[in-house]
Amino acid sequence: MKFNHIEYKQRNISIWNEVAPRYHKRWASINQGPFQSTSKLVQLLNVNKGDKVLDLACGTGVVTKKIRSEIGSLGYVIGGDSSVTAIKTAKKWIGIKPNLDFVNIDAENFYFSEKFDIITCQYALFFFPNAQRVLKNIKKNLKKKGKLGITVHGAANKVPFFSSIFDEVTKFIPDYVPPGSPDLDRFGTKSSLKDEVRKAGFDKISVKNFVFKFNPGTFDDYWKNYLRYVATPLKEKIDALGRSQKLKLKNSVRENVIPYTLKNQTIEFPWEVLILTANS
Ligand SMILES: C[S@@+](CC[C@H](N)C(=O)[O-])C[C@H]1O[C@@H](n2cnc3c(N)ncnc32)[C@H](O)[C@@H]1O
Repeated sequence: MKFNHIEYKQRNISIWNEVAPRYHKRWASINQGPFQSTSKLVQLLNVNKGDKVLDLACGTGVVTKKIRSEIGSLGYVIGGDSSVTAIKTAKKWIGIKPNLDFVNIDAENFYFSEKFDIITCQYALFFFPNAQRVLKNIKKNLKKKGKLGITVHGAANKVPFFSSIFDEVTKFIPDYVPPGSPDLDRFGTKSSLKDEVRKAGFDKISVKNFVFKFNPGTFDDYWKNYLRYVATPLKEKIDALGRSQKLKLKNSVRENVIPYTLKNQTIEFPWEVLILTANS
């Protein structure tokens, strides 16, 4: 089946509309594991009082909130996302503030009449089927010498939290994600991320890597939470496997996490994160 760009984006919107509240509770509102990146991103961008900032694919507002605390009353920050539920969750979490707004936008197609000093995009570049189009669009919406800040997860083998499950699930369910979908770790190395951003015409590109630790509890906690968190279309495919195949799948995931299992039987995953900064 041929990859359909529009269907892929619509599927992402409906998945995020379902999982945003769970994502917020489990990840974004907690400054732990990979989300230690939020402070690092804001620090590396050197956000100043008075800056006008767009937080693209803001999700439930974790970066937006942090930036708002740095820009003072003369600056403003806009969080933009294609999921209305993510925006609703962000608004409820941060509240109504004078220098803050949220808009429902598609990263490939947005336009603002005023240009920004900074545009951030944390944990989303890999979801855009046409990342070049998004980056060029970001460039158009930045002031001259405006700053870009992008955070992505490292390559699959550097983020075993994802790969320990995903590698096995895709063996048992080859169409787990729509055929032809872009790889979610395609910007997970310094060179691949840098090349993509350079191709869009950015300058002074720097990529730093961080390795955070994340402990999801015991294997049973890890597995149970995956099933609880995952969006319905994926959960349905796992459930359709039937009892014995599902048990085989669970056991092969269990094998994968052995190297990360501590003496107290909890898991400690390393989690690589790349943070890119660049000028327009
Ligand atoms: C993993 S979340 C990251 C959210 C937030 N930046 C954070 O760090 O928590 C990915 C977000 O990208 C958004 N997204 C995916 N495709 C998008 C698109 N084409 N335009 C705008 N937002 C998009 C999703 O709705 C989701 O909120």
